[in-house]
Amino acid sequence: MAKAPPPLPPAVRRSPPTTIESSRDRERLRTVVFPEHSDLARAVAERIVEVIHRETRAKGRAVLGLATGSTPLGVYEELIRRHQAGDVDFSHVITFNLDEYYPMTPDSPHSYRRYMWENFFAHVNIAKQNVHIPDGTIPRERVADACAAYEEAIRAAGGIDFQLLGIGKTGHVGFNEPGSDATSRTRIVTLDTLTRKDAAADFFGVENVPREALTMGVATILDAKEIALLATGEHKAAIVARAVEGEISTDVAATFLQRHQSVTVYLDLPAADELTRIKTPAPSTARSSTGCATRFVAGPSSRRTSGCSSSRPIPMTTSSRWAAFSASCGRTRTRSSSRT
Ligand code: F6R
Repeated sequence: MAKAPPPLPPAVRRSPPTTIESSRDRERLRTVVFPEHSDLARAVAERIVEVIHRETRAKGRAVLGLATGSTPLGVYEELIRRHQAGDVDFSHVITFNLDEYYPMTPDSPHSYRRYMWENFFAHVNIAKQNVHIPDGTIPRERVADACAAYEEAIRAAGGIDFQLLGIGKTGHVGFNEPGSDATSRTRIVTLDTLTRKDAAADFFGVENVPREALTMGVATILDAKEIALLATGEHKAAIVARAVEGEISTDVAATFLQRHQSVTVYLDLPAADELTRIKTPAPSTARSSTGCATRFVAGPSSRRTSGCSSSRPIPMTTSSRWAAFSASCGRTRTRSSSRT
């Protein structure tokens, strides 16, 4: 008879994140910093699950605005995990993606349609007819009508309840490159040179990156009831600081988020590196004029630096930054079991 397998180790208990209030005088957007990308992904996925439950209870459906790129991949993984665990049902969820390269065939490895199906939709019980992604195959003479129809479809669905965003190095949200204004709607745009350079590796050369894209506009994004802007990695730090602390300007489309009532910026520590409270930390009791809380969320993976044990080593740069950041908070440091 086959030997019984050894019992599984007990599940690792995750303690609730601890939060640290910090001076955030310069921040114009509610910003939450996580030590690890995985903690950020879990928090965003949890918020999406809450919105889906709330909206399906209230009106029988939930409408999500979705992004592609590397940043939201962890969120999609976590949503799939939550779905497989029976926590969330996507059968009454309607989605609208931000953008698609133009031209772009749906079966291309670079297509955002393919990305969405491979990384998310194929793994949950979403109805195909509830998925909307700008069509990169539309003939040019019909692009304007297709973009207007996309706007109309969002309106007909009752508007977007929760919009997920990444940010490009140009400050784009969707593909709203520098020059995009607050009234812009779904349309065809020319991609910024920096955006095309950033995509060059994926396309095996900048010359292969499409020059244009279809994108929801800034106004389309700002119509969403709630917005989450995600950024990870040090390469995003400078543009994140500009978006969170800078003046509103058409030079950086993400700054228009400052006009929205319900935006949260979710960052990992490297992406937060250029925020004043981390770059130039100084104890302060001043509060932002917006009065909303900004927190550093210490997830389980940061336990070592916060005095608890962790099986996972923390890179020195992250741990020392965390220690310096905590120390700089001095008397304003608080612990709580509140969630993000
Ligand atoms: C993608 C999108 C873009 C990306 C941004 C960041 O649908 O709208 O704005 O969110 O370019 O891309 P990653 O996450 O790859 O750094």
